[in-house]
Amino acid sequence: MGNNITNLRVFHQPNYPKDPEFLALRVNRFYREKVQNSLNGKHILRGGVPGQDAICLMSNDYLSLADHPDILRTQAEALIKDGNGMLMSAVFLNGETPQHLFEQRLASFMRAERGLLCQSGWCANTGLIQTIADERTPVYLDMLAHMSLWEGARSAGATVVAFIHNDPEHLERQILKHGPGVIAVDSVYSTDGSVCPLKEIVAIGVAQGCVLVVDESHSLGTHGEHGEGLTVSMGLEDQVHFRTASLAKAFSGRAGFITCSERFHEYFICESRPSVFSSSMLPHEIAALNQTLSIIQGDDWRRETLHANASYLREHLDRAGYNLRGSQSQIISLESGSVPQTIALRDSLEKRGLFGAPFWTPATPMNRSIIRFSVNSTLTKTDLNRIVQICDEIRDEVDMANWASTRRKRSVSRCEETSARTFDREFVFA
Ligand SMILES: Cc1ncc(COP(=O)(O)O)c(C=O)c1O
Repeated sequence: MGNNITNLRVFHQPNYPKDPEFLALRVNRFYREKVQNSLNGKHILRGGVPGQDAICLMSNDYLSLADHPDILRTQAEALIKDGNGMLMSAVFLNGETPQHLFEQRLASFMRAERGLLCQSGWCANTGLIQTIADERTPVYLDMLAHMSLWEGARSAGATVVAFIHNDPEHLERQILKHGPGVIAVDSVYSTDGSVCPLKEIVAIGVAQGCVLVVDESHSLGTHGEHGEGLTVSMGLEDQVHFRTASLAKAFSGRAGFITCSERFHEYFICESRPSVFSSSMLPHEIAALNQTLSIIQGDDWRRETLHANASYLREHLDRAGYNLRGSQSQIISLESGSVPQTIALRDSLEKRGLFGAPFWTPATPMNRSIIRFSVNSTLTKTDLNRIVQICDEIRDEVDMANWASTRRKRSVSRCEETSARTFDREFVFA
C-alpha cells in the first residue's frame, strides 16, 4: 500500500519474507486507518523539518541543557577515558560504581533514602510496577497517567482500576470498592500540562493503606526550590513510596530514575526485568548526568525563566481563545480535535516556522488530538511574541472557533470538562 510518510530511499529486497496474514492485516490496518484515511495520505506525525529560524517546541529539554558545553565536555572526556565500560546488566554491578554513586547523589537531592538508575523512564515505570504489583493487587491509574505505568500494570498481570483525571474523590470511591493497592499518578501530565492534586491523592493513599507512585518526569529539575520535584516542593516525600522520572526531559539525558528505600534497592536490581534482562547505563552517560545535576541545582534562573515563559504563553494563548485543557505548567497544548484538523493546524504553524509535537490516539482520546508546545528557558521575548502572533494569525485559517475544544471552553463547566476527558485505554481492561 503506497504512502508518502517518508522520503527515505529504501532498498527493496525482492526475497524479503512475506508477512503471514495475521501480521499483514495489522500493518494494512495501520496504513488504512492512520495514514490513508486522514488527509490525502498525509501522516499526522510526519510534518516538515524545522529550518534554521524555526522555533522548536517539540523537545522536553525544559532547562535548555542539551547543548550545555560543560555537560558535552564532561561526556566527551568520560567517553575517551572510560570507553563504553562494561556491557552488562545492572544486576552484575558490584562495589562502589559510578552508577551507585550517582544514584546516591540524585536520591539525596530528591530527599530519598536510595535511588535506582534505569535505562529510561519507560524501564523505570514498567520495572517498578511489575515488581510491586501482581494479579492480586489493584493498580489505580489516573486516566491520563503515562502509558508506561499502564504497561507496567499490564505486565504485572494486575487489575487496572482507572480513575477520572485529577479527581481524588473518584479515586477514593474506587479504592473503597476494590481495596488497597498501588496508586500511580504523574506529577505534571505530559499531554496537557495539568498538575496533580498531590496533597489530596497522597492523603487518600495513606488513609487507605496504598502504595504511592508519583511519576515526576515533567517536574524533576523544573519544580521545587532547586528542582527537587513537585513531591518535595509540597513536603510529601516522606509519604510517597516511589518517585519515578524520565531523565530525558529537564536532565536532557537518556535514563530513568526511581526513589526507593535501601531495602527495596537490592530487591529491584535482582527482580525487575529491565534490570536483569537489559544492559545498564554507559559510563559517559552517567558522567553527563552528574554534571547536569550540578547545573540543575545551581542554575535557579533557568527554572525562573522557564516558568515566566510558560505563564506568559498560557496567558496570551488563553486570551487568543485557545482551550489549553487546564495547563498549569511548561506543557501547553492546543487541542485541535480530529486528525485532519490537527494536520491542518500543524501545517499552518510549520508554514510560519513554529514546530510543536502532534499527539493522537492512544496518547489522547479519539478525536482529541493536540499539538503540544514544550516551553523552554531560552525562549526570548521576541520568540514568545512570535509564537503568540502566529497562533493569533492562524485562528481563521484552522477554523479554531469551530473546534470542539473551543466550544467547550466557551460553554462547558469545569466539571463537564473533567468527565469529558475520561477515555478508555480499553486494551488494558481486556
Ligand atoms: C510522564 C512520563 N513518564 C515516562 C516517560 C518515559 O520516559 P523515557 O522517554 O525516558 O522512556 C515519559 C516520556 O514520554 C513521560 O512523559
